[in-house]
Order: sequence, then structure tokens, then C-alpha cells
Amino acid sequence: MKRLVVLLAAVAFLAIGTVVVAANNGPAEIKLANKMGEITFNHAAHQGKVADCKTCHHKGVEAGKCTGCHGVKPEAPAAKDAFHKQCKGCHQEKGGPTGCKDCHKGAKS
Ligand code: HEC
Ligand code: HEC
Ligand code: HEC
Ligand code: HEC
Repeated sequence: MKRLVVLLAAVAFLAIGTVVVAANNGPAEIKLANKMGEITFNHAAHQGKVADCKTCHHKGVEAGKCTGCHGVKPEAPAAKDAFHKQCKGCHQEKGGPTGCKDCHKGAKS
């Protein structure tokens, strides 16, 4: 009986954990519009590759969109610089794409 209770508690704990994570994961795919050519960012695939949300959401997921601060708040670096530093920085380190058109699919040249 004691074992069963422990098992049920463990199952309940896992179930709750899964639901909480799924509910806050944000969109699977995010369009980042900009003058250089729209970027389709595969958020879900990156979540699979990068274990810690805070690697990207450095102010915490609850702080909201990057573009809620970058390009808006004077203390935050311009969006272009912040995104390029984070996206390209990791790609250089981990072997992701670094060519302009790899991200800016709509770019003309
Ligand atoms: C590789 C970088 C990266 C990782 C890892 C990542 N995210 Fe994101 N996330 C982004 C970017 C970029 C956006 C789009 C922000 C914008 O539009 O300014 C975003 C958007 C979101 C949004 C929508 C925000 C809004 O207000 O519209 C949520 C929610 C979110 N992420 C949750 C998570 C959670 C939870 C994890 C971890 C399981 C995670 N993210 C991991 C980069 C990442
Ligand atoms: C609540 C506001 C806020 C949010 C949300 C936010 N940032 Fe930032 N970010 C800042 C500020 C302010 C700085 C300046 C240094 C510091 O205070 O951490 C910064 C610094 C950075 C830097 C370092 C720039 C440099 O030149 O060293 C990068 C890269 C970055 N942010 C990327 C992102 C990305 C990508 C997202 C979304 C996934 C994001 N930030 C979300 C406010 C924010
Ligand atoms: C912390 C590491 C990390 C960060 C930050 C990161 N990426 Fe990536 N990304 C990767 C890795 C690793 C790959 C290559 C994966 C592979 O080939 O399996 C990748 C692949 C990609 C690809 C090609 C495959 C696909 O999913 O379409 C694109 C496009 C891309 N990233 C865009 C972005 C953008 C835009 C940002 C910033 C908003 C970003 N990445 C931030 C690690 C990262
Ligand atoms: C790893 C992905 C990635 C690569 C590679 C990349 N960029 Fe970007 N770039 C972004 C992201 C993300 C943004 C910001 C989008 C936003 O503000 O929502 C951006 C923004 C820009 C902007 C600002 C556009 C505007 O509306 O102000 C310019 C210009 C730009 N990139 C040029 C380039 C050039 C030139 C290259 C090649 C040398 C390049 N980018 C490579 C992801 C990338």
C-alpha cells in the first residue's frame, strides 16, 4: 500500500510537471519581421536543442518578448545587435547556420 501511494504521488508529480511546461512553452514557430527579410524561427526545435530557457530568455521567460525591451528600452541594446549576438554567437559555437540568407530567407541579395 505504501509503495502504491509513493508510485501514485510520483505519477501525479510527473503529470503536473509536464502540463506546466507545455502550457508556457510559447509558439512552436515565430516570425521575426524585419527590413532584411522575415525570419522563421523554429522555437520548438530550439527548445529541444537548448536545455535552459534562460540561455535565450536571459531576463526570464516571464519578462516576455525580446522586442518588449530591445529596440524599446534605452538600457537594452538595439534588437538587431542583441539578436545577432545571441543567435549567431551560439551558431558559431554549436555549428548552427551563420549566412545572412540562412536566417533572412526573404533577403534579395
Ligand atoms: C534559442 C533561443 C530560445 C530558447 C532556448 C527558448 N526561447 Fe522562447 N523565444 C525565443 C525568441 C527569439 C522568442 C520571440 C521573442 C520576440 O518575439 O521578441 C521567444 C518567445 C517565447 C514566448 C512568447 C513570448 C510572448 O510574449 O509572445 C514564450 C512564452 C517563450 N518563448 C517561452 C520559452 C520557454 C518556456 C522556453 C524553454 C522551454 C523557451 N522559450 C526557450 C527564443 C528562445
Ligand atoms: C525585460 C527586458 C529584456 C528582455 C525581455 C530581454 N532583454 Fe536582452 N537585454 C536587456 C538589457 C537591459 C540588456 C543590457 C544588459 C543587461 O542589463 O543584462 C540586455 C542584453 C542582452 C544581450 C547582450 C548584448 C551585449 O551586447 O552584450 C543579448 C544578446 C540579449 N539581451 C538578447 C535578448 C534576447 C534574444 C531576448 C529574448 C529571448 C532578450 N534579450 C530579452 C533587456 C531585456
Ligand atoms: C544557444 C544556442 C542557439 C541559439 C541562441 C540560437 N540557435 Fe539557431 N540553432 C542552434 C543549433 C545548434 C542549430 C543547428 C541544429 C542542427 O543542425 O541540428 C540551429 C539551427 C538554426 C536554423 C536552421 C534550422 C532551423 O531550425 O530552421 C535557423 C534558421 C536558426 N537556428 C535560427 C536562429 C535564430 C533566428 C536565433 C535567434 C533568435 C537562433 N537560431 C538562436 C542553436 C541556437
Ligand atoms: C542566426 C540568424 C541570423 C543571421 C545568420 C543573420 N541575421 Fe540579421 N537578424 C536576425 C534577427 C533575429 C534579427 C532581428 C529581427 C527582429 O528585430 O525581430 C536580424 C536583424 C537584422 C537587420 C535589421 C533589420 C531591421 O529591420 O532593422 C539587418 C540589417 C540584418 N539583420 C542584416 C544581416 C546581415 C547582413 C547578415 C549576414 C551578414 C545577417 N543579418 C545574418 C538573425 C540573423
